[in-house]
Amino acid sequence: KVKLKFDAFRHVRTFSTADKPTVVEETTKTYPSTNDQKQCFDEMVECRKKEARSSVVVQVGNPSKSAALVNQVCSRHGNVANLFHYTHKDKELLLLEFDSELSAVNLLASCSHNNNVKVIPAASPFLWLKAMPSESSASVSARFPPVIREENLANDNLEDLLSNAKSISEQMIILEDQTRLSEIGHRLRWITCVQIERMLSGLFPSLQVLPFGSFVNGCGRNGCDLDMAVSLDGNCGSEPLEVKSPLIFQAKAAINNPRLQTQRHIEVFADILQNFTTGCTQVQRILQARVPIVKFYHEFTGVDCDLSMGSLTGVFMSELLYLYDKIDWRFRPLVTAVRHWGAWARLTDMVPGPRITNFTLTLMVVFFMQRRSPAILPTLGEMIKLARPQVDTRQTNDVDCTFLRDPSMFQERGKLNEESLEDLFIEFLRFIESFDFNERSVSIITGTALRKFDSKPLYVQNPLERELNVSRNVNLKELTRVVMEARNALYILETQEDQGPANWGLLALPRAERVRRLNPKTSHYNYVTQIDMKDLFSNDTDDEIDDLVEVKLS
Ligand code: GTP
Ligand code: MG
Repeated sequence: KVKLKFDAFRHVRTFSTADKPTVVEETTKTYPSTNDQKQCFDEMVECRKKEARSSVVVQVGNPSKSAALVNQVCSRHGNVANLFHYTHKDKELLLLEFDSELSAVNLLASCSHNNNVKVIPAASPFLWLKAMPSESSASVSARFPPVIREENLANDNLEDLLSNAKSISEQMIILEDQTRLSEIGHRLRWITCVQIERMLSGLFPSLQVLPFGSFVNGCGRNGCDLDMAVSLDGNCGSEPLEVKSPLIFQAKAAINNPRLQTQRHIEVFADILQNFTTGCTQVQRILQARVPIVKFYHEFTGVDCDLSMGSLTGVFMSELLYLYDKIDWRFRPLVTAVRHWGAWARLTDMVPGPRITNFTLTLMVVFFMQRRSPAILPTLGEMIKLARPQVDTRQTNDVDCTFLRDPSMFQERGKLNEESLEDLFIEFLRFIESFDFNERSVSIITGTALRKFDSKPLYVQNPLERELNVSRNVNLKELTRVVMEARNALYILETQEDQGPANWGLLALPRAERVRRLNPKTSHYNYVTQIDMKDLFSNDTDDEIDDLVEVKLS
């Protein structure tokens, strides 16, 4: 019989048992929840959150020895559905998913805390397996699923794969496939969301944490950040608040200034994250930015996180991109190739500044695909017209985010266009090279190049908050570089000049020196070089740019 002693290490709740050797089986597996072309965004979110609430992460000494014992301990509380192994920095970690939420709740309730009085015993799904003397371990009999290890995270053979491809289209598929956020990467980000939600709901019982950005819209790459928005009342924009009882809590009066109130909330969140939340380090409060946020790094997942509050437009924007991804399979590999091209040519940057962002590039790809003949993607205007009453109605902070949330309506139509990925990538570069950015704006609402609404060098309309320009940060120098690099890439791809057998297609595009960020095993290549400090203080002097610079410097 395994003798169990539960203990905690710093804020990490632990359970203790002796290591016992076992075979770690490597396997790859696809998960239905990530591949369903019909699954709507809300279903995906619910499914992933449920999975996260049924999961824990356990730090172990030796995964091959400990996997069976971790499984043995956990099996007392329910069936273990999936077991993953990953490493981060010098930590060996097992991610274990039960087949029910209750099992995870029971396991956490059975864990004990470190009796070190200096540590605040906050509950967390991140646990630590305490080593025990070997004589205390006994037979390990519980049946457990194979341990799944992520492969190719460092993409060491990406260049070989690309050079052995038969066409640029195939290269684009390989690039998308090899750099896509891994299953463990997805799960760790969802577990982090659920962890933060649980921590903050101690103060705000109805609070929900909603992830957004590339991580949930399908365009996430290994190493991508985790963007989260907080809904204090748990209302996700779709339904009026349910009145549960005529009795209402007496609340402390709000500060009579919404922005100040948001800043106060963000400060409170930051304090909770910094002082009580396992794994949250390098907490930074960025209160003066247009959207106040708290940034932090999660040391058990290796993920950079941003938490904001107030508006859910970012979430609905991600839902829209998620739908475009479901509507046509070419969207994701094309976005991936364009984002890589942007990173290779140093058009995009890891930190805010005057360069074009991945988000702006993604909207340009949507616009481009809407304007193909026949159109591959529908305009947002079409999706708004077809919205179903109630089912598709969403509102946040007086911004109407209603649009059809059923991708199947447009899936057949996109098939009328048979252009290959290679043709689309080349045509996208041609579109960038020839578009009249001086006079015209990019709007995915109409799919037409309307006259610009402001004097910024680049105008890409925010499709949900229509009066905003998402590319207001881009200065003329950077826009000119985008156009020149598109011309350059077009020339290289079309003439295939100087291309050897190992250096052709995407590999022939100019690429900035590669820098591996974080641990090579848990991060992807980031094609960035040193930040040029001069770029921070380029021509733009707008308040918004000042905000961005402040973010960057902090
Ligand atoms: P990567 O993190 O680079 O992989 O891409 P991302 O799409 O997640 O971009 P980022 O983390 O910078 O931004 C997260 C989300 O915030 C985006 O997907 C958008 O929904 C939203 N967002 C980013 N930039 C802007 C902007 O300038 N204006 C508005 N309104 N929303 C933005
Ligand atoms: Mg992001």
